[in-house]
Amino acid sequence: MSAVLPATWLRGTPVCFLRGTLKRVIAIYPGSFDPLTNGHLDLIQRGAKIFDELVVAILRNSEKNALFTVDERLEMLRAGTGQWSNVRVESFEGLLVDYARIRGASAVLRGIRVVSDYEYELQMAWMNRKLDPTLETIFMMPAGAYSYLSSRIVREIASLGGSLAGLVPASVDVQLRARLGVAPPLAPK
Ligand code: PNS
Repeated sequence: MSAVLPATWLRGTPVCFLRGTLKRVIAIYPGSFDPLTNGHLDLIQRGAKIFDELVVAILRNSEKNALFTVDERLEMLRAGTGQWSNVRVESFEGLLVDYARIRGASAVLRGIRVVSDYEYELQMAWMNRKLDPTLETIFMMPAGAYSYLSSRIVREIASLGGSLAGLVPASVDVQLRARLGVAPPLAPK
């Protein structure tokens, strides 16, 4: 049974329509993305469905210890997310809450794969809330197939010559092996 709600009108337009156009939710999906994995892409796809705009933001602070430069990671992410028109890829420096304020974002998207992620994520979310109580952290789960996947484990498998088929985009696989100087794994006989 559907209820018919009385419309409130303002200058010839139902107020519900005005609200719909006014409330644009911009979310930031921050991370290191060193390198981009299919787990990240899965989360980006889910985020792009529920937010009006999703800004994927690479942290610049930790560039020194990274395998790929920020520019290389920007390129990886732009190549991987081109099909979603409401997804933008940028880098940022300093505090996430400051960057979110500059971008007009009201939410931070983070992925939780397994229970062990929760403690670290909760600590960050609480700290971000302390720094800016208006910024909400939204947790989403990637597909179960990516629940064990992380950039760290991807770097390790690549460095030891293991297969990353289905875990990272093919172009990232090629870049990883080139950077680590490792030959692609032999096809199973
Ligand atoms: O992919 P990562 O490395 O888990 O992402 C961590 C990231 C970038 C989200 C986090 O380190 C961050 O937001 N750094 C920015 C500095 C900041 O605001 N720190 C306070 C949050 S607790």
